[in-house]
Amino acid sequence: MAAFGSSTQAIPETGEVPRHVAIIMDGNGRWARKRFLPRVAGHKRGVEVLRRVIMACVERGVEYLTVFAFSSENWRRPAEEVSFLMNLFVSALSDEVARLHENGIRLRIVGDLSPFEPRLRELIEAGERTTAGNTRLTLTVAANYGGRWDILQACNRLARARPDKCGEWVESDLAPYLAMAHAPEPDLFIRTGGEQRISNFMIWQLAYTELYFTDRLWPEFDAKTLDAAIASYRRRERRFGRTSEQLQPGTDLPLPPAEAPQTQDA
Ligand code: IPE
Ligand code: IPE
Ligand code: MG
Repeated sequence: MAAFGSSTQAIPETGEVPRHVAIIMDGNGRWARKRFLPRVAGHKRGVEVLRRVIMACVERGVEYLTVFAFSSENWRRPAEEVSFLMNLFVSALSDEVARLHENGIRLRIVGDLSPFEPRLRELIEAGERTTAGNTRLTLTVAANYGGRWDILQACNRLARARPDKCGEWVESDLAPYLAMAHAPEPDLFIRTGGEQRISNFMIWQLAYTELYFTDRLWPEFDAKTLDAAIASYRRRERRFGRTSEQLQPGTDLPLPPAEAPQTQDA
């Protein structure tokens, strides 16, 4: 598995186009309500919008797209909405995997898949298997995902794998166990729907991601909104802790301290 650099251990390379875009697709329910439709009509529409946004990302040269489809807290919703969302996930996987594959897209699903019914888990496994060799874009769907869940599952797996090193772990020990180990950290985070919060999405990986919030509801999101987010991204100065002056070409950077165990009592 390719190991990606960490924004806190080294300065990542950045370009005009964000290499990895992460999206909280929010506002489906409100979009439907505004039209006097049941909330779930917004979710259905949301899948169609995602299909177009995936292709827009491919066209713009984005290499990784990660979308939040169902959070570990979304089980708190009414049972009928949860069940609609599960069925929608099944039908979207059944309908879309062939198309993703034709377009050279690799599909990954991250999250705690254990509560999902066997049929859904089989579709996930088959979708990932079919598309595993594709390289044009990696689409990661976060389903029953929570950033805290991810950090804890990674810590637990590391603890089991390396009990000898317990108490002396460094970031690079944990990194391969995180659910997003197959992707670099996101460059650009987009949340639709007007809320300005992270809602437990990728809390580890967003450390140095540029954040973009739009009032536009997810079912209204399109290539133009994506371009506005990318244009905003291009105007940002990504300093990663340095000063503006240090970003000038030809400036020598002081070497960072070597990775040391993260302890309070050192
Ligand atoms: C996001 O839209 C989709 C999921 C969380 C599954 P919402 O369903 O949260 O829509 P709003 O925020 O209620 O409008
Ligand atoms: C975040 O949206 C999760 C997804 C989009 C899947 P929510 O609508 O669940 O977030 P909160 O509850 O408003 O923070
Ligand atoms: Mg919401």
